[in-house]
Amino acid sequence: MTDWSPASWRDKPIVQVPAYEDTVSHDRVQARLASFPPLVFAGEARALKAGLAKVSDGEAFLLQGGDCAESFAEHGADNIRDFFRVFLQMAVVLTYAASSPVVKVGRIAGQFAKPRSSDTEIIDDVQLPSYRGDIINGIDFTGEAREPDPERMIMAYRQAAATLNLLRAFAHGGYAKLDHVHQWTVGFLKDSPQGHRYQELADRITETLAFMRACGLDADSVPALGQTEFFTSHEALLLDFEQALTRVDSTSGDWYATSGHMIWIGDRTRQPDHAHIEFCRGVKNPIGLKCGPSLDPDELIRLIDILNPQNEAGRLTLIARFGSDKVGEGLPALVRKVKAEGRHVVWSCDPMHGNTIKAASGYKTRPFDRILSEVTAFFDVHAAEGTHAGGIHVEMTGKNVTECTGGAKAISETDLSDRYHTHCDPRLNADQALELAFLIAERIKADREARGLTAHPISAAVGF
Ligand code: PEP
Ligand code: CO
Repeated sequence: MTDWSPASWRDKPIVQVPAYEDTVSHDRVQARLASFPPLVFAGEARALKAGLAKVSDGEAFLLQGGDCAESFAEHGADNIRDFFRVFLQMAVVLTYAASSPVVKVGRIAGQFAKPRSSDTEIIDDVQLPSYRGDIINGIDFTGEAREPDPERMIMAYRQAAATLNLLRAFAHGGYAKLDHVHQWTVGFLKDSPQGHRYQELADRITETLAFMRACGLDADSVPALGQTEFFTSHEALLLDFEQALTRVDSTSGDWYATSGHMIWIGDRTRQPDHAHIEFCRGVKNPIGLKCGPSLDPDELIRLIDILNPQNEAGRLTLIARFGSDKVGEGLPALVRKVKAEGRHVVWSCDPMHGNTIKAASGYKTRPFDRILSEVTAFFDVHAAEGTHAGGIHVEMTGKNVTECTGGAKAISETDLSDRYHTHCDPRLNADQALELAFLIAERIKADREARGLTAHPISAAVGF
C-alpha cells in the first residue's frame, strides 16, 4: 500500500472532529490508549469479512443495528441484554423466512462519536458547541459539558471493553442457544401482536429442533445451534481514537482497527481526498460506506477504487441512506454503475438517516411508514437491477421507547414525549424493530418464491 500509516490521515483535510484545547492531556491519552489491549482480534474481523463475502455473493443477509449513539449514562447490563435479545429475535425471523444465514453486526461496543449538521447549538440565545457523542463531550447544555475532553476516550474504551465482554458471553455462553428461542422475548413484547407472531415462529423452530434432535442433530453435534456469531461495529469518526487502537496483526503483518470488527465512514466524511477515507483504506477490516443522495456514481467508483482496490468480496458494504422520497430516484444509478464495473460489494439499506423529521412538538422523529417505504424501494431497485438486496442497517433499542412514530402500536406525535430517551437520533423500539424484521422477511420470501426458490426451514435453523 502506497504511503499509508495509521497516522497518514493527519496530513489530509478533516471535518466533523473536535479541536482539543488541552493538547498535553490529549497526547497523554493517545499514548495510554496505544498501550491498551486490542478490543477485537484480526482473525475475528476476517471471519466477519468471510460472512460478508457470502452476503456479497447473494448467499446471506446482513443485519446491522443498535443505538444511534451509546451513552456513558446508560451502560447497564439490562440495556445490553434487551438489545441483544431483540436483535437475536430479528435475526431468527430473518433466518427462518429467508432460509439463509444472517450475518449479525451490532452498532455497539464503540458507537460513541456523532457527526452533526451544525457545529453549534443555540437554546434561548445561548450558543454552545454541539454535542458530538460521549467519547467527545457531554450532552448537558453547559459550557463545561460541551468542552471536548480527551479523557472521555479512555472512558469509551473501558465501556466498549465491558460491553463486548458481556456480548461475547451472551453469544457463546449458552444464552443464544437456539433452544432458548422462546426466552428471548422482552417482557413488554409478550402481549403485543409482534410478540405473538414471534411466539408462533418460535414454536415452529422448537418443533424443527425436536425433529432434528430425533435425527441425532443437536447442539453437541452442530455447534451452530449452541451459540451464535455476533460482531461489533461503529462509525470510525474520531480518528485519534481509531489510530491509537490500530495494530499490526502478527499472523498476517497487516494493519487492523481493533476498536471493532467493522467500521464505517459516514455520509458527511466520505470525501475521497479527506482524512476518513485515508485512514480506512489502510486497515483490513470490513468497511462500511454510507451512500446518500449527494453521491454520484463516478465518485462512488473512485471511492471503491481507494477502499477496495483488490475487489475483495466482503471488504466493502455500501449502506444506502437516501430517504423514502429520494431512494427510487438516486439508488438505481449507483447500483447499475457498481454492477457494470463488476465490483463486489454488499448493498445494505439504512432506512433511518434519510427519514428524520421534526414533529410539531419539536422532537426529532422518524415515521415507521417512511422507514418501511425506503426498505421496500431498496428491495424493488435490487429486484429490477438483478442485484442482491444484501442487508439492513437500523437504529434500534430493546427498550419500549417512543421515538419513532407509527408501527402496529401506532405511536403518535403526541406519544413521543412519554419515553424519548435517545442521545441522538430516534430509534425503533423493540416492537417496531421486530415488526420491521417480519416485513423484510416476508419480502425476502416473496422474492425467493418469485425466483422459483423454496424455503428449507431445517437448513435455515442450522444456518443460525
Ligand atoms: C449514523 O449512522 O449514525 C449517521 C450519522 O449516518 P450518516 O453518516 O448516514 O448520516
Ligand atoms: Co443516527
